Formats: sequence, C-alpha cells, structure tokens
Amino acid sequence: AGNRTFTMIKPDAVAENNIGAITKMIEADGFRVVAMKMTKLSAERAGQFYAVHKERPFYQDLCDYMSGGHIVAMILEKDNAVADFRKLIGATNPAEAEEGTIRKMFAKSIEANAIHGSDSDENAEIEGSFFFAGIEKF
Ligand code: CMP
Repeated sequence: AGNRTFTMIKPDAVAENNIGAITKMIEADGFRVVAMKMTKLSAERAGQFYAVHKERPFYQDLCDYMSGGHIVAMILEKDNAVADFRKLIGATNPAEAEEGTIRKMFAKSIEANAIHGSDSDENAEIEGSFFFAGIEKF
C-alpha cells in the first residue's frame, strides 16, 4: 500500500535505451509499479499535459520535445510517494541534481531531463488519470 505518484520516462531517456536502468532504480528505491504504458504524445496532447506551463518561454520547445519520441508513463506506489520520488529524480536542471539521482545520471539538459515526477498528490492523481483509465489503476 502507500500513496501514489505519477512519472514519465521522457523521450531522451527512451531513445538512449535507459528504460530498464531507470525502472530498476525506481523499484530499488521501494516504489511499486502500479500501472505502466509506453506511448507517444501528439504535440497537442503534450500541450494539454503541460498546460500549466503555457505562458512560459520554453512551452513550445517542451511540447515539441515531449512529442518527438516515445515516453513510458507509470503510476508508482510507496509511502510518501510524491516527495520521495522527487528526491530520487533530483533537480529539474541536471547541473543542480545531486549525485545518485536519476537526473544526475541520465538527464542531458534542463529540458531533456530524462524523467518527470508529479509535484503534489493532487497532480499525481490528475496526471495518472491523463494516461490511465480507472480499470488500469488497480
Ligand atoms: P518537469 O518538471 O517534468 O515538467 C516541466 C518541464 O519543462 C521540465 O520537467 C523540463 O523538461 C521543462 N523545463 C523546465 N524548465 C525549463 C527551462 N528553463 N527550459 C527548458 N525546459 C524547461
């Protein structure tokens, strides 16, 4: 049991064959994979997912990048899932990410930063529901 967060392995990490290595780190840190799906976002759907950032200067680039390759979406379960997962992935900018974090190891830039993690319980639920139907989220 425990509570849940949502993650996406981003196109840069998928393209570099790091799905397995990243998922191994997630499981080794005590997260249980509740749901998992590989898919590709259209630019429009990427725009919907990142709608909170639509006034940011990096929004269009972000939508192009996130729709430029396959992603792996997952719902993860662990006590204190949201906060613990953000600790595991590290800072948005890999130059600032701590040693041993997923972004320190796999991210290429502040945009192509290997992985997403929800920033609140509420957003974890919203983001998980963006990718998974109720019957897929046991
Ligand atoms: P994430 O935190 O998962 O969600 C928002 C994404 O926007 C972030 O990861 C990066 O991929 C991207 N992003 C955030 N800040 C910047 C920035 N300053 N320049 C380019 N991309 C950014």
